[in-house]
Amino acid sequence: MLLKAIIVSDAPKLATSSCIIQRSSSRRKPLSTSSVPPRASRTNVDKQTTTTDGDFYQVLQRYSTLYRIVLARPMSNGLILDEWQRIYIQVVNELGLLLDGEKAKQCCMRLSCRLLVKGPEGFVQDPNYHMETRGSLYDAWETMDGLTSSNWPGFYDSGSGSIDVRIVATHSKVSQKACCPPKSIYIHISPVFEEPYSFHALPLVIGPVEVEAEKSARTNDTWGADRQSKAMHRAFCLDQTSMSVFLIKEGWMCGTPGKMWDSALVLSDMLVNRIRHQPQYLEHRRIIDLSAGTGSVGLLISSIYQRWFPDRMPQITLTDLPEALSLIEFNKNLNFNSDINANVRIEPLEWGNIDHTTHIANSGPVDLIIASDVVYNPSCFSLLVQTLETLSTPGRTVIYLGYKRRGLKEEDEDQFFKLCSANFHISLVQKNQMSDGFGDWEREQAPLVRDSDDGKGWMGILPSGRTSSLGNPQETGVRVYRLTKKIN
Ligand SMILES: C[S@@+](CC[C@H](N)C(=O)[O-])C[C@H]1O[C@@H](n2cnc3c(N)ncnc32)[C@H](O)[C@@H]1O
Repeated sequence: MLLKAIIVSDAPKLATSSCIIQRSSSRRKPLSTSSVPPRASRTNVDKQTTTTDGDFYQVLQRYSTLYRIVLARPMSNGLILDEWQRIYIQVVNELGLLLDGEKAKQCCMRLSCRLLVKGPEGFVQDPNYHMETRGSLYDAWETMDGLTSSNWPGFYDSGSGSIDVRIVATHSKVSQKACCPPKSIYIHISPVFEEPYSFHALPLVIGPVEVEAEKSARTNDTWGADRQSKAMHRAFCLDQTSMSVFLIKEGWMCGTPGKMWDSALVLSDMLVNRIRHQPQYLEHRRIIDLSAGTGSVGLLISSIYQRWFPDRMPQITLTDLPEALSLIEFNKNLNFNSDINANVRIEPLEWGNIDHTTHIANSGPVDLIIASDVVYNPSCFSLLVQTLETLSTPGRTVIYLGYKRRGLKEEDEDQFFKLCSANFHISLVQKNQMSDGFGDWEREQAPLVRDSDDGKGWMGILPSGRTSSLGNPQETGVRVYRLTKKIN
C-alpha cells in the first residue's frame, strides 16, 4: 500500500490507524435528510473527488492543522551527565503522516528542552540539573535521510530534524559526584514560538530516562535493545507559575486508542478554557469520557480540578474496550496518587454491551458524556448510539461529540446523525447558538462554545513562561456536536 510506504520505518505507523480511515466514495450524494444537523461549511477538499492513493494521501494531509513532534528513532534511555546525545525527531499529523511538500518546506522550528521530574503537584522542572541543546551537524550519509545540518536544534525546512542534548548541573556547587543525578527524568522538547520559527507542533516528552554520573559497564552498550526507548508523552500546562505539567503517555503502536486524536485536543481546549474561567461549570458533575483512548480529556479535567479546585472535584469515569484500559490506567497512575480513586474510575465499556452499560448507568445519572472521535466505523454506529441513549437522561445529560471528517462516506455520516436524531436533539457547537435542548444544569452555566479567542495557551507553556497554542482551534477540521436526549 502506498500509504504504508510513505511512513518512514520507525515513525508511528499509519497501519495502526487504518480502521479510522476509510476512503471517501468518489461520488457524493447531496444532503438527504432534514434530521442531519447543521454542518460546518465544507472545504474544497471535502468536495473534491479522490481517485488515487496519492490524492487520498493529500486529502489526509490537508485535513491536518495540528501536528505532533514524535521520536523518529528510539533513543537511549540511559544518559550520562555532560555527554551529548542526539535525539531524532519528526513532525507528523494525527495519523502519523510525515510532513511533506510545501508544508515540510515551511517547517522552520527551533526547539528548546527542559528536564522534568515528578513532584507532588505534577511534573516540574528539575531544580538541580538542566539540559543544554545545540544544532546537529550530520555526516554525509545521514543527510540522505532527509536531515539537514542546522545551526539550531530542531527542524530546518523539513519534517525531519534532531536535537543534540546534554544534561549538566545547574549550579556549580552541585558536585556531580557528590550529588546523585535524578534517577528518573523526562525530557520536554517544545517549539520556540518566535519569528522566524513560526511552525507549531505539539511538544514531545520522552522518558523516563535514567541519568548516571559516569559511564558504567551497563551504559557502555547504549545500542542494546534494553537501553532503547520510544516512550512518548504529550504535556499540558497545569500551572504557569510553577510551570508544572500533566503528562499523557501515548502508545502509537497500540492502535486507535494509543494516541490523542485531534478531537480530543479540541474538546480539551474547550473544556479546560471553560473550567479556567468558570470553575463551577463541572463542579461535582458526573462525567463519562467514553472510549477515552489515552484518557487525556477526562484525566486532564480531573487534574485541573484536583490542582485548582479540589472542593469542586467532579466524578469522572473513563471507559474503553477492556484491552484499551491499561494505557488509561497507566496515565492515571502517572499523574495521580491513589487518593484520586474515589473521583476517577476506569471501567470497561464496549458499545452495545448491556452488562457494561448497565453497570455504569446504575451508578447514577450522568451529566456530561465526552465522546471524542468515536464516529468512524459504520458497522458500530447503532451500538454506539444505543450506548449513548442508555447512558443519557433527558433534561440532564449533555453529550459533546467531537468528530473529524477523514474519509467516512457522506452517506455514512448522515446515517449516524439520522440514527441519533430519533432520540436526541443535535446541534453544532459554535458561537451564538440557540439554547434549545440543553441540559438544565448547563443552561444555568451557559453552554460551551467554540471561541477562537480562547485557544491560547492550551498546548502548554514555553520555558520562557509564555503560553503557546497551536493556532486557531476553529481550523482543525474538528466539529463538535451537542446531543441531548429528547423527552419521550
Ligand atoms: C479514535 S480513538 C479516540 C480515542 C480518544 N477518545 C481520543 O479522542 O483521543 C477511538 C476509540 O474508540 C474505542 N472503540 C472502538 N471500538 C469500540 C467499541 N466497539 N466499543 C467501545 N469503544 C470502542 C477505541 O478503543 C478508541 O479508544
